[in-house]
Amino acid sequence: MATNALPREAWNSRLTFILAATGSAVGLGNIWKFPYIAGENGGGAFVLVYLVCILLAGIPVMIAEVFMGKRTRTSPVLAVEKLAAESGQSTRWRWMAIMGVIAGMVILSYYSIVAGWALAYFPKMISGAFVAIDDAGSSALFNEHLSNPWRLLGWHSLFIIMTMAVVITGVTRGLGKAVEYLMPILFVLLLILLGFSISQGEFSHAVKYLFAFDFGSLTMDSVLAALGHAFFTLSIGMGAIMAYGSYMPEDTPIAKTVLTVAALDTCVALIAGLAIFPIVFASPAIEPGEGAGLLFISLPIAFGSMPGGIFFGALFFALVSVAAWTSSISLIEPAVSWAVDKGKATRLKAGIFLGGICWLLGIGSALSFNVYSDPWIFGLFNWFEFSDFLTSYVMLPVGGILMAIFVGHMFGKSALLESMDIEGWLFDAWRFVLRWITPDLIKIIFFLGIINIFL
Ligand code: PHE
Repeated sequence: MATNALPREAWNSRLTFILAATGSAVGLGNIWKFPYIAGENGGGAFVLVYLVCILLAGIPVMIAEVFMGKRTRTSPVLAVEKLAAESGQSTRWRWMAIMGVIAGMVILSYYSIVAGWALAYFPKMISGAFVAIDDAGSSALFNEHLSNPWRLLGWHSLFIIMTMAVVITGVTRGLGKAVEYLMPILFVLLLILLGFSISQGEFSHAVKYLFAFDFGSLTMDSVLAALGHAFFTLSIGMGAIMAYGSYMPEDTPIAKTVLTVAALDTCVALIAGLAIFPIVFASPAIEPGEGAGLLFISLPIAFGSMPGGIFFGALFFALVSVAAWTSSISLIEPAVSWAVDKGKATRLKAGIFLGGICWLLGIGSALSFNVYSDPWIFGLFNWFEFSDFLTSYVMLPVGGILMAIFVGHMFGKSALLESMDIEGWLFDAWRFVLRWITPDLIKIIFFLGIINIFL
């Protein structure tokens, strides 16, 4: 077992953990991805399935992940090895965590491209390019932005450097303070935008779209998309939350804290949807199923026609960048902390090397919006789409199944109760769902979804 030469870092308080975990969970997944995949999958029914997945798969697995990290106080791969040894299981369970390390790096590689769009939109907003713009103009500007691979690579490089700069300095120093100020501002801004959408957009149409459960439009691959997104948005199934749990103060309750984080994350996604779709429906040239560009095309139109829109718009994209930043740090943390806890490298060396790999993988995603946009992988995906498919649809759900089985079946009740803040029926309900519902639910959705995509 690895021993740490240096004392391990820890969050200052329960609040810092909540903010850091919320910082990880709230990101492009909520503000960019949720509205666009809800749009591509027909709205309401997708949202309902997503909420069910959060409840029956997301929250139980998130509790299990924090448990694994907090109990072992080490990085995910070593944590799983330690727990396997403790409960008399094969150390091959470590592959579950290694898959997570890889998933985090692949996600970061394409996440950084989209975060780069948000970074680029900050100066674009300030330049006044969107003042009084119409929907056709906004679409044209976005497509023009995507057309130059060098430009996308430049922003991608900047974002990876920003991420690595924080990771190298250590997660607990600085980051805690940053999220403390920035997350509330993001929240307030979303509410301001929501206010704008209610007053200026087609708000009731959007509410109907997001909450009218029309099951006719639901296919098995939208169900898989909802499941994958539940994992993606809560940052679970790959060890990020496990790594954060390992820095959790001793007296912080696991289940209550997880519920707070999951609730905040879900609220941000729903508010983002309710802020974006009213504008989409008020703009005849924009389709809800527009795809990855939805946020970058529809919101600038709103900002362009708002009093003070240049200011709010610039602030908004700055904050989307910050939300992405506080998430990207957690994507690479399982990999970096593994190298460090193993005593193989300093944070500096591990960060440069692993960040470099993510940067290289991201080149494929930058080219997916221009030179190599055709679906050359299985005839279905370009590199960007494949990276997203592989991680969100395959690796995170598979990681979730394994974690649920590992914690649900390999540990006795008393071992779990020791570390848990819930007892009685709440504890029993959590353990029952983790053992008997989560794994099968994920398996069924996973297989039917994959079959539907490839056949
Ligand atoms: N949860 C983040 C988001 O919604 C993305 C993420 C996934 C971060 C997995 C860490 C781990 O943007």
